Amino acid sequence: MKLGSGQSTDEAGSVIGKRSEAAYMRERKVVPGGSMRAASWLQPHPPYAARGEGCWVIDIDERRLLDCANNFFSLIHGHAFRPVLDAVRDAMTTGTAFGMPTESEILLAEALAARSPRMEQTRFCNSGTEAVLAAIKGARGLTGRYRIAKFEGCYHGAYDWVEVSLDPTPSNWDDENGNPASVRCNAGTPESVLQEVVVLPYDDPQRCADILRREGATLAAVIVDPNASRAGTVPMSKETAAVIQDACRRDGIILIADEVISFRLSYEGASPLFGLEPDLITTAKIIGGGLPIGAVSGRAEYMAVFDHSAGKPKVSMGGTFSANPLSMAAGLASLEHYSRPVVERLNKLGDALRDRISNGLADAGVAATVTGMGSLFRLHIGAGKVTGYRSAFPTAEAAKLIRRIQLAMLNENVLLTPNCSGSLSSPMTEVEVFSIADKLVHVVEKELGAYQGSSN
Ligand SMILES: Cc1ncc(COP(=O)(O)O)c(C=O)c1O
Repeated sequence: MKLGSGQSTDEAGSVIGKRSEAAYMRERKVVPGGSMRAASWLQPHPPYAARGEGCWVIDIDERRLLDCANNFFSLIHGHAFRPVLDAVRDAMTTGTAFGMPTESEILLAEALAARSPRMEQTRFCNSGTEAVLAAIKGARGLTGRYRIAKFEGCYHGAYDWVEVSLDPTPSNWDDENGNPASVRCNAGTPESVLQEVVVLPYDDPQRCADILRREGATLAAVIVDPNASRAGTVPMSKETAAVIQDACRRDGIILIADEVISFRLSYEGASPLFGLEPDLITTAKIIGGGLPIGAVSGRAEYMAVFDHSAGKPKVSMGGTFSANPLSMAAGLASLEHYSRPVVERLNKLGDALRDRISNGLADAGVAATVTGMGSLFRLHIGAGKVTGYRSAFPTAEAAKLIRRIQLAMLNENVLLTPNCSGSLSSPMTEVEVFSIADKLVHVVEKELGAYQGSSN
């Protein structure tokens, strides 16, 4: 059946094309919610992508959007990056999956090892979620303990244990001692899972130290993303990083750095920037060049927990499409072009973007801030300083404004994620970056002005 054409206007005045509308009406009959993931949902429904060209995505209504979502920060080189396309095409013509190892997995594992001595060995899987769950199982196998600690509000994928306290609210986020409570994210998560997860404050090193002193000896792992997107896309303080590093050493806890997003922050990954020396590192997104991937890496002595070569390993890790040659080839091409100079250039562009937005917001006198690090950024409504999940937690009005701003940016042909965060990609130059910044300042000024006008 052919889909329609034309354009429709939603409540915030954003133009979403008729073809996307028709696609959505059709999809909602066969897919709950009418699209595959809540993360790309927006009201009244998202535009549908047709194709990508560098830092642009073109929707099925032929609207060109400057893509800051980059498939949730996984496309470091934007869309249809020629070296990735060539590598995948070459790999594809010789077969897509084998019940045998391929040399391509050696090459990508070596590329990671060459970037960081803490990635001496790697096991690949197909998503960040799988990587995190394998790393946690690995930590349990290494320590013989099963509880874990994670930071409040931080996202580490869809494994029950790391979803604990993903989205607590002011009404339930404190326990009776004023520490972060273990809060259920999904209906039906067993009580036992909540008891097995210790929740740490992202921006309170003293409290974090106290909790770890009390619970440390029971923990298999502490998992940390030091620039966690859901905790505000704000870098973790060196004090908090030192607290968890010390506790892990003291109590024999496996430190898992979840660099699924933050690996992009430097050539060696995020951990060295925070003085962290993780035992296991999880990556995904950019290391797959736009194809599905996940990876657990670590020094050989830790990765031995997955070693099956002498019989049943302590922890099994494998999967039908793990290390498939297409993802391996795409990932290798992507990393080869994410060289030190490219990392530095993108990080400088990120600094320029955040400076321009901050200055623009200050000049406009609006109560909003931008956070981020390297090539990542996120907008927050409100005048307060954002230091972690709680200070990033939007009021109901701020949440509504964020949704309106995302739509208004779409109307300006810029695609942000639903919480108004974004990432830069290597095809972008100062032209695109300043355009994003100037449009965002303009839109925030307009939406906040309209809101203040209506609430006066
Ligand atoms: C820090 C972090 N860990 C894990 C994941 C899960 O990765 P995936 O979506 O590939 O399962 C994500 C996804 O956004 C993430 O941001």
